Amino acid sequence: MCTTNESQAARLGKRVIYQIYIKSFSDSDGDGLGDLRGITQRLDYLADLGVDCLWITPFFPSPQRDNGYDVSDYCAIEPTYGTMADFEELSREASARGIGLMLDMVFNHTSTEHAWFQRALAGDPKYLAYYKFVDAAPDATADDPGEPPTNWQSKFGGSAWQYVPSLNKWYLHLFDVTQADLDWDNPDVRAELAGVLRFWRSHGVNAFRFDVVNLISKPAAWESDETDGKRFYTDGPHVHEYLQEMVREGGIDGLLTVGEMSATSIENCIRYSNPTFHELSQTFSFHHLKVDYLDGQKWALKEPDITELRSMFRDWQERMTAGGGWNALFWSNHDQPRPNSRFGDTERHWYESSTLLPTCTHLMRGTPYIFQGEELGQTITDFTSIDQYRDVESLNYYRILQEQGHTPEEAFHIVHARSRDDGRTPMAWDASENGGFTTGEPWLALTGNYDRINAQEEMADPHSVRAYYQRLIALRKQLPVVQAGDVHFLDTPSDKVISYERTLDGVRVRVQCNFSGERQPSLATDGGELLIGNYDEPATFLRPWEAVAHIWR
Ligand code: GLC
Repeated sequence: MCTTNESQAARLGKRVIYQIYIKSFSDSDGDGLGDLRGITQRLDYLADLGVDCLWITPFFPSPQRDNGYDVSDYCAIEPTYGTMADFEELSREASARGIGLMLDMVFNHTSTEHAWFQRALAGDPKYLAYYKFVDAAPDATADDPGEPPTNWQSKFGGSAWQYVPSLNKWYLHLFDVTQADLDWDNPDVRAELAGVLRFWRSHGVNAFRFDVVNLISKPAAWESDETDGKRFYTDGPHVHEYLQEMVREGGIDGLLTVGEMSATSIENCIRYSNPTFHELSQTFSFHHLKVDYLDGQKWALKEPDITELRSMFRDWQERMTAGGGWNALFWSNHDQPRPNSRFGDTERHWYESSTLLPTCTHLMRGTPYIFQGEELGQTITDFTSIDQYRDVESLNYYRILQEQGHTPEEAFHIVHARSRDDGRTPMAWDASENGGFTTGEPWLALTGNYDRINAQEEMADPHSVRAYYQRLIALRKQLPVVQAGDVHFLDTPSDKVISYERTLDGVRVRVQCNFSGERQPSLATDGGELLIGNYDEPATFLRPWEAVAHIWR
């Protein structure tokens, strides 16, 4: 049933997407926050890197409780980020350089400041039906609202339900209390959201990312379980049907679209991304980024388990290919700590760690994503105090970890390793004050090493991490085997080595990545030509954090 659609590889396999976290990318007006004009000013940098499309995180009006993922108007622009004219200029200038824009649609929830939610709060039945409101007990009071409808936990900590005394109802928020879940079972809601897509289509946008989109369909009955309830709404009952409708009504079938899929399954991702189903063109899944979660818990640390990492990659690469699905390939985004610090050793092998990771994913089958600053090898923050953090999730968990019995030092240590702010520190453009990101006070401090790790420095150095990314991007554009080849993983003599092959029309590429600081045995590469590698001299074994690819043609 699910055969690979050939045009899928042709359409998606050549592209490389660059993610811009707008707040931290480039500030054109000195207010300490990045903005749309800041992006326009940096387009030559991005064109030179070789990327095809920019995913820009939400820049719509928002109280910024979750940095723009709490949208209060889907069809306008947050004034601190610019104006519609700024957006149009960015779009024109990007397109003149052959670069497209991907907008971030946060459709699972709105901000509680959205006009729809405000009308609901005022008691308007039409808008009450836009959200997941549930009646509270008749005798509920603000001081004693009783039990919420289910035991579901918010992803940011605490109950996923909030009581509203004036309505004597609870509403569902899977994220922050100011991010109210929309009711996708209501056809009016689905029609509104399709209208948002048509609005941005009419502004020339032809790529979209959908935030936590596998959570949109909630069950018909409110049930609890012994854990956090996520099994009831993850890849929920009508999710495929609703996505198909959104794609059809929003006029986005066949476009470049990616869904962020929380705790999903391969079977569902095949349905989300195989073109036969007319849903999305690719999916982000996160299982490979949980291999350093102790017992699956984000806020409990363990060393990355490379055996598990390899088996995750193997499953997702091989089974998605067999099912005609398409993976977004990534290590990093605005919700993840910097991966070179997390999976590598940036103290002793910064260059090798920062180039090993993209070698591993960029040559896989799928579409690679680069998160701003990753191409420079930006590292985890050097923050020393909780006061330096801004992220709502990090601040919540700093408190919750202490409530669970951790000392403030332990709580800080965990937050420091896991905070989303680790990836959100501003982009380092040069060695001047605040890395050339802003002339004002940056909203979040830069990582202290920006005097060494910055764009200007690396653009002048042909052996920089950035130059290595440029080579990887160029290889994808040149080689059909990378764009469209089959993929299969190899057994290796060491459990610290991840190795796979891509094959197409008699051409074979073999990738070997040593995820350790020790020398490891290498597979034979006789007759192969070196395609790319992060050490200059060849060797018969793999050196610390070495990544190497050979080609037979
Ligand atoms: C996604 C976003 C994240 C946001 C959440 C709620 O996971 O990437 O930043 O907090 O959805 O919208």
